[in-house]
Amino acid sequence: MDKINDVAVIVGSLRKGSINRQVANALAELAPASLKLTIIEIGHLPIYNPDVDENPPAAWTAFRERIKAADAILFVTPEYNRSVPAALKNALDVGSRPYGQSAWNGKPGAVVSASPGAIGGFGANHHLRQSLVFLNVLAMQQPEAYISGADKLFDANGKLANDGTRKFLQGFMQAFATWITKNAKSTNGAPSFVEAKAI
Ligand code: FNR
Repeated sequence: MDKINDVAVIVGSLRKGSINRQVANALAELAPASLKLTIIEIGHLPIYNPDVDENPPAAWTAFRERIKAADAILFVTPEYNRSVPAALKNALDVGSRPYGQSAWNGKPGAVVSASPGAIGGFGANHHLRQSLVFLNVLAMQQPEAYISGADKLFDANGKLANDGTRKFLQGFMQAFATWITKNAKSTNGAPSFVEAKAI
């Protein structure tokens, strides 16, 4: 059996009944056997403050180490006011520092946004992509995943109850598995086809 890739899943919502967490759980079930998805919690991370980083809280250090250890990152997020929730932005900031030691650098990634609304969190999806460019996360371009009407897709137990969405998410995870293999970081820690810039 080929290598199983460790995919760190970052869910942008902190809500217990989060639709996006349900989407993340569905993605974990639908992913091919070559991927192991694990949700990495972000709600407990103190708000990033460079002064505090002189003696970083244990939660920041553990989060950075966990992201560094991952083969790939999958973001599943709601849209808050046409952008990403503050908790997700904070996680990006925490992982990006100290300067020159970003945990995100060179990782293959993918973005899924989900909303009860009609445009499926498009604004959050693309605001997130703007940060991912700077963070040198190699975000899969296609297929895009804007899950609209997402409050209607799950049953009372939080299980995906829509065949069309199941098929789409399965195809998305297949494409992501291929993307991860193609863009795997080389063993010396540098991305395989782009040199990391100091950021
Ligand atoms: C929202 N919501 C929302 N939805 C959307 O499609 N575009 C938006 O800009 C916003 N803005 C927004 C701001 C804030 C502060 C909240 C709390 C909510 C609604 C949002 O999509 C809805 O609450 C989802 O259910 C949130 O995702 P989870 O928590 O279910 O994963």
